[in-house]
Amino acid sequence: MKRVVGLIILFFLFTIPFVLLVSFQSHDYPYDYEQLSEDERLVIRFSHVVGEDTPKGMAARKFAELVKERSNGYIEVQVFSNGTLYKDGEEMNALSRGDIQMIAPAISKLTNYVPEISVYDLPFAFHSLDEVHEFTDSEAGEILTDQLKEHNLYAIGLWDSGFKQLSNRIRPIQHYDDLKNLTMRIMPSDILAKQFTVLGAFPKEYDFNAVYYELQKKSVDGQENTLTNITSKNFYSLQDYLTISNHGYLGYFVLFNLDFWNSLDNDVKQLLTDTFLEVQQWEWEITKKLNDETLQKIENCQCIELHYLSDEDINSWEEKFNPVYDFYIRKYGDQFIKELPKFRSDT
Ligand code: LMR
Repeated sequence: MKRVVGLIILFFLFTIPFVLLVSFQSHDYPYDYEQLSEDERLVIRFSHVVGEDTPKGMAARKFAELVKERSNGYIEVQVFSNGTLYKDGEEMNALSRGDIQMIAPAISKLTNYVPEISVYDLPFAFHSLDEVHEFTDSEAGEILTDQLKEHNLYAIGLWDSGFKQLSNRIRPIQHYDDLKNLTMRIMPSDILAKQFTVLGAFPKEYDFNAVYYELQKKSVDGQENTLTNITSKNFYSLQDYLTISNHGYLGYFVLFNLDFWNSLDNDVKQLLTDTFLEVQQWEWEITKKLNDETLQKIENCQCIELHYLSDEDINSWEEKFNPVYDFYIRKYGDQFIKELPKFRSDT
């Protein structure tokens, strides 16, 4: 009898942990995983460089919340904002090493890896965010993001920051000649550099976290960025003039380390992908809303002199930028540039 009881106990001792283990691995997410240690959960460290209240900051938080909820806490996306874990300029290496698993760098910062991707940086390449989304969804967009895989990067999707505006401390910018001789901070991209040199301005590359300091030191006169970045990092307090030029797109490819992504089970990939796509749609909507609200605030605060480019101004700026397009074609061919007109909604 004792032997039978012993066998029954042994049976339960071995089968219960096994059943629990299989349930964890099939990821039906039936348990509350809160009580598990970090080693037992799937932890995804997501580092980014902007503020919490920007479109990227808000979307990263929402993505983390939804993933946690939908996996009952099994998948934990730990978000590090404002470059607190890795600064701009450090985060790509940290992702490659696998120290973090997710980042969302501005597309311009990927041009060192896939130079053709600088098609996104061409001035006035896109006139609405919908055009950017459609281009990214197209075959051309897929070819570009696929090339990131050669650098161990998997792009799960695209988040917007919006269109860039021009700020500086020297003079109002209305005509493109007003930029002559101004020193302007840029992100690392030869197309962004060319965009300023054709106007007789001097581009200078600085990491995002250095911009405030460099503006303060006056080592640059101005910079280009989206309104949410300009206000959340307080750049506008150091600048006297702001031109709503909408001259260039700023957005992010949201990236995983490809080896890490490939190591995930299919159902985890599915949950991350489905949740990401839902958050992406939401992010696109709040970007428009936040940029509109920020413009309203800047108009109301009267803390910086505001200028707007008219349609006529934009036509002349676009023409002035033709050499930037020629420069791109000479360096990278016309495969991607020739796709752009197909996505123009205002022609
Ligand atoms: C910049 O460097 O200006 C931007 O890339 C910052 C960001 O991530 O929006």
